Amino acid sequence: MSAVVEERELRENPLVEGLERLPVHPTSLVIFGATGDLAHRKLLPALYNLAHEGALPERFELVGVARRDHPDENFQAIARESIERFSRRPPNADVLDGLLSNTRYVPGAFDDDDVYRQLDRVLREFDEQAGSPLDRVFYLSTAPQFFPLIAQKLGDAGLQSPERVQARLVIEKPFGYDLASARKLNDDVLEIFDESQVFRIDHYLGKETVQNLMALRFANALFEPVWNRNFIDAVQITAAEDLGIGGRAGYYEGAGALRDLVQNHMLQLLALLTMEPPASFEANRLRDEKLKVLEAIVPPSPGDVPSMALRAQYGPGDVGGEHVPGYREEEGVAPDSRTETYAALRLNVSNWRWAGVPFYLRTGKRLARKVTEIAVILKPVPHLAFQSSGSIGVQANQIILTVQPDEGVSVSLGAKIPGPRMRIRPVNMEFRYGTSFLSESPEAYERLILDAMRGDATLFTRNDEIEALWGIIDPILTAWHEDTSSPVPQYPAGSQGPSEAERLLDSGRHWRRL
Ligand code: BG6
Repeated sequence: MSAVVEERELRENPLVEGLERLPVHPTSLVIFGATGDLAHRKLLPALYNLAHEGALPERFELVGVARRDHPDENFQAIARESIERFSRRPPNADVLDGLLSNTRYVPGAFDDDDVYRQLDRVLREFDEQAGSPLDRVFYLSTAPQFFPLIAQKLGDAGLQSPERVQARLVIEKPFGYDLASARKLNDDVLEIFDESQVFRIDHYLGKETVQNLMALRFANALFEPVWNRNFIDAVQITAAEDLGIGGRAGYYEGAGALRDLVQNHMLQLLALLTMEPPASFEANRLRDEKLKVLEAIVPPSPGDVPSMALRAQYGPGDVGGEHVPGYREEEGVAPDSRTETYAALRLNVSNWRWAGVPFYLRTGKRLARKVTEIAVILKPVPHLAFQSSGSIGVQANQIILTVQPDEGVSVSLGAKIPGPRMRIRPVNMEFRYGTSFLSESPEAYERLILDAMRGDATLFTRNDEIEALWGIIDPILTAWHEDTSSPVPQYPAGSQGPSEAERLLDSGRHWRRL
């Protein structure tokens, strides 16, 4: 292939589109909780993949902060192992060495002032080596009780307002435990940092397919005219997992499915699906629209909760040919635990566009398979002239957005079955990421880390938005907390979920099969 053809093909190949084109200011990234599970499985491998694509700035320095006492070289070895194990592509030795060679580690307790003095020294050293100051990103990947403390200590040490460069604070989930604690956390953090410096993570927003929801709605004239109560009958949003809680009982017992997945990921999907078109894809314009639609979801009164929300727990069962224990038998879970591993809700978006359309949400651990999808079910045609000709399974059109796995969009259509009679059956028109773009999508964390370094908050949750999200589920949490006696429905691991969930649906409707 000639060099010219090769270059043109490279330019036209969607594989080379993307992350590496965006300019990023030289940056020092500090990960608090750098030896924890999230850093190990997601953050360090994401950094490697950014380095592999040439997406990191030319000067990029990494600092790990954690309680365990390790020398720098040990942290480098830990990071190397994480990357070798969890990177989505096999690491290239040179790229990996380049990324880790200058990596530093600051050990100590997060309340110890000496940690921040050491950190200050390390960051200044990096600035000196570079000949000019680097932007700073502080990534809080610790247990949530440390978030306000670390923000405070960074402020005390003057690290939040370096001269001539930017300092940004990335905060992992969970952001708060309920509405009151989320408000308090916002207040504490915003006493030290300006909102424009704060990046609250919801990794679903970094998923390509979640962003594609906006492309589908706002880059096509086809869908928006029907995207309203006149044409849409109902929406089902599913985030099902086949895995159990793994070794996370300590966290999960106090969280449950509603806090873990609904308050953040699922309501974000709902907001992107239902918001009005933003005037531009700029952080605050987009978040203004999300906020408006979240505020249109009227939180239930305590008395309404039993009829619009259902919780359940997985019992023992078979998953992938293996017998697995029930939730209450998992290590670290109380035998009489009432923490939900499944939650289903019926919500209404009370505005002009959506009044009267039910939005059904469900999520659960240890269900039949892992799938995250949004099913938009249109109203049936007003009159079906072919009824008498033996049509099979005529159904209203459905638009299915699959977030994972098999990422893509499918639209079900009624089509004529070949033959002499006018018989109709549903067929699917499909777009699949894998076949259309022949590329593996970057991991959500790659996109989000890069955006935080660039100071682009479009895919992060704003302070008022996070409070609106908690506001929707707070009454459900309270009602469930106060109900200490009615039995928590059980579903067998590996199943479709509790049969009781059907009662949230209006008559004639069923949950989609997993
Ligand atoms: C996390 C939850 O936020 O999302 C986990 O804490 C859950 O419990 C995970 O398993 C699901 O993420 P993904 O990207 O695998 O769908």
